[in-house]
Amino acid sequence: MDDVPVENLSEEEAKAELASLAIRLARADYDYFTRDDPDLDDAEYDLLKRRNRDIEAIYPHLIRPDSPSSRIGGPISESFEKVAHADRMLSLDNAFSEDDVRLFDTRIRNFLGLTDSDPLDYVAEPKIDGLSLSLRYEDGRLVQAATRGNGEVGENVTANALMIVDIPAMLNRGGPNVLEVRGEAYMRQEDFEELNARQGEHGEKTFSNPRNAAAGSIRQLDSRITASRPLRFFAYAWGELSEQLAGTQIEAVERLAELGLPTNPLGAICPGLDALIARYRDIESRRAGLGYDIDGVVYKVNDLGLQDRLGIRSTTPRWAIAHKFPAETAFTRLNAIEIQVGRTGALSPVARLEPVHVGGVQVSNATLHNEDYIAGRGTSGNPIREGRDIRVGDRVEVYRAGDVIPKIKDIDLTARPADSVPYEFPKTCPECGSRAVREEGDSVTRCTGGLICPVQAVERLKHFVSRNAFDIENLGAKQIEQFHAMEWISEPADIFLLEENRGAELAKLKGSGEKSASRLFASIHKRKNISFQRALFALGIRHIGENASALLASHYRSFDALLLDIDEMADPDSRCGPRWEHLVGIDGIGEVMANSLIDTLAGEARSAVDRLRDSVVIEDVEETENAESELSGMIVVFTGTLEKMTRKEAKTRAESAGAKVTGSVSARTDLVVAGPGAGSKAKKANDLNVKVIDEEAWLTLIASRS
Ligand code: IVH
Repeated sequence: MDDVPVENLSEEEAKAELASLAIRLARADYDYFTRDDPDLDDAEYDLLKRRNRDIEAIYPHLIRPDSPSSRIGGPISESFEKVAHADRMLSLDNAFSEDDVRLFDTRIRNFLGLTDSDPLDYVAEPKIDGLSLSLRYEDGRLVQAATRGNGEVGENVTANALMIVDIPAMLNRGGPNVLEVRGEAYMRQEDFEELNARQGEHGEKTFSNPRNAAAGSIRQLDSRITASRPLRFFAYAWGELSEQLAGTQIEAVERLAELGLPTNPLGAICPGLDALIARYRDIESRRAGLGYDIDGVVYKVNDLGLQDRLGIRSTTPRWAIAHKFPAETAFTRLNAIEIQVGRTGALSPVARLEPVHVGGVQVSNATLHNEDYIAGRGTSGNPIREGRDIRVGDRVEVYRAGDVIPKIKDIDLTARPADSVPYEFPKTCPECGSRAVREEGDSVTRCTGGLICPVQAVERLKHFVSRNAFDIENLGAKQIEQFHAMEWISEPADIFLLEENRGAELAKLKGSGEKSASRLFASIHKRKNISFQRALFALGIRHIGENASALLASHYRSFDALLLDIDEMADPDSRCGPRWEHLVGIDGIGEVMANSLIDTLAGEARSAVDRLRDSVVIEDVEETENAESELSGMIVVFTGTLEKMTRKEAKTRAESAGAKVTGSVSARTDLVVAGPGAGSKAKKANDLNVKVIDEEAWLTLIASRS
C-alpha cells in the first residue's frame, strides 16, 4: 500500500496502514535501540515516519494511542486503546490443598459420568507468575497484542509486544489463518534484579517483584521503554482459531511450539489424581532453580473434546484449576531491630535481616509492627507465636504473602543464643531525642517532638507531595530530604515558593541542572490548583486519611467553610452544639478524628496551613451527580491483593462514586472486587451469586464514570 499517494487512501485504508506502520516502526525502533541491528536504513525509516505523519495529518481522528509520531519526543498519550477479545480471556479457579484438587477431579468425573477407575488424562503445567497476553496472528503475522483487561476488553499493547524477543512477529508456516495465542509475559529473576539495579542507579522506580516489573514494562506508552526491559513469554492456551490445533492440550501446545512460540518445558501428561499430586511436588521441588517465578501448577483436562463438554462456569473453565503453592517461608538471622519514625511520629520497629530469598525475592527487612508484637502479644493482649518474643540474634522464619512487606512468621527457640536479652522498646525518639510515649489503649509509641522532630517534618513533606496527595512529579523522597537539609523547604508552602526563592541556586545544583530544575518547577506549577480533598489529605493530619478527607470535602464543599467551623470549635469546651454535631454527624467521621482535625487546624499547624493557602488555590467541591453513577448505592467488598492501588485508594474512589464499601460479603453485597489471594470472601460471593470482578475490571468500571 505504501506506493498509493496518501491523498488517495480511503479512510479504511488509512486506518489499516496506520496500524501496520505503527508495528513496522515499533519493530524498527526495537531493532535500532535494543538489538543495535537496524533492518531499515535511516532514509527508509524516515520515509515511513513521514508517511505515517502525512496520513495522520489527513485523518487526525485516526491517530493511534501508540502512534509512532508521538513516540519521538512528542507528547505521549495517556491511555491505551481498548480492544475487545474475540474470545473471552478466562481466569482459573484455585486449589489450595490436595482435598481441593480431589474435589476438582471428582466434579469433572461426575460431570462427565466417569467412575473413579475410568482413565482420565490431565496435563500439569507450571503457573507462570506474570501477566497474561493475547496475541492475534492473521496469516502468520502478529496483528494485535492485548492485555487481559476484564477478560472481555483489554488494552492494545501491540507495539510493546513486538519488543519482546520471545514473541515472533511472524509465525512459522502451517498454522491456522486466525490464531489467538494466550500466554504469560514474565521476567526472569536475574533479569529483574539487573533491571532494578539499573533503575535504582538512575534514580528511577524499582519494582517489588518480577511480576510487577513485567506488568509495568508492558503497560508503557512509550514502547522504547518496553524494548529496554528484559521480558519473556510462554504460550499455554489459545482463543479464536480458524481451525483446531490438535485433539489434546499437550499436542496443541506442541503445535504452538512448532509455530515458533516459546512454551514451557515442564508441561506433562498426568494420568489421574495421584500423578497430578506427584507432578505438583516435583515442580515445587524444582521451583527455586527455575530462574523465573511460578506460583502454582495448573491442571487441565488433556482431551480438548472433554474440555468442550465441560465448558465454562462464569469466568473460569470447569476443566482447569490452579493448584497454588503455599506462601514461601525462609529462615534467617535477625541482625538488628531499628526504629523508623513516621510522619505522625509513630515509632515503627523494623527487623534488619541477613538477606534471604523468599519466593524469588531477596528479603532483608521485615515489619515488626509495634512493641507488643515483638513481645509476643497480640492487639488484645493475647499471646501470639505462643507468646514467644523476638530478639536480636534470633533465627526467624520470614514469609511474603503477595506483595506486602515481609513478615516474621515465627522464631526458632532452639537456635536462640544463650546470652540474648529481650528487646527493650525505646523511651525516646531516636531521631530528635524527644520523649516517646504510648497512650493508653494505643499499640503505637509516638515521638512527642511534633514540629521540632526533623524526620516527622520530612516524612510529612514526602506525604504532601505523594501520589494521592499533591502528586508533584519530579519531587521525590531524595529531593525532599536534600531540600529540607539545605533549609530550602521546611513546610509545604515553601515548595510553591521554591522557584522564586531558590530558582537560581537550584539550577546550579550538582547532579541537577537547569533542565531538571525547570521540569521540577513545571510540575509544581501544575499542582497550584488542587482539590479540597487532596489538599486536606496532603496535610497528613492524624486520623484524617483519604477517606475522611473525601467525606469532609463533600460535606463542607470549601476549605474556608471547614476552617470557619473549626475556628469556632478551637476551644475543647466549645465542641458541642450544631457545628460539632454536623462534624461528627458525618457518617465515617468519629470523635477522635474530629478532635484531631480541630486540634491540628486550630493549633500549631494553622499558620503553615494559612501560608499554604496563600500559595495555592484549593478548589471548592462542585455539586456531584452521583445519582447518575453506575456505582451509586452499590455495596462493594474488596478482597485479596490489589496491585494497582492501595485498599485505601480503592475504597475512597468507590465511595466518591457513591458506592458503600463493606468488609464482609453477604446477600446484600452487589459486587466483590477480588485480587490475587482472594479466599473465602470470593468463594462466598460465588456461593451467593454475587458478581465477582478482578481489579482490572474494577478500574475499567470506575474509569468509565470519571
Ligand atoms: S490457562 C483457560 N495456564 O494464571 C484458562 N494460565 O490465575 C486460561 N497462568 O489468567 C489460563 N500460567 O494469566 C493457564 N500454564 C498456565 C498459566 C496460566 C499462568 C495465569 C494466566 C491466568 C491466570 C489465572
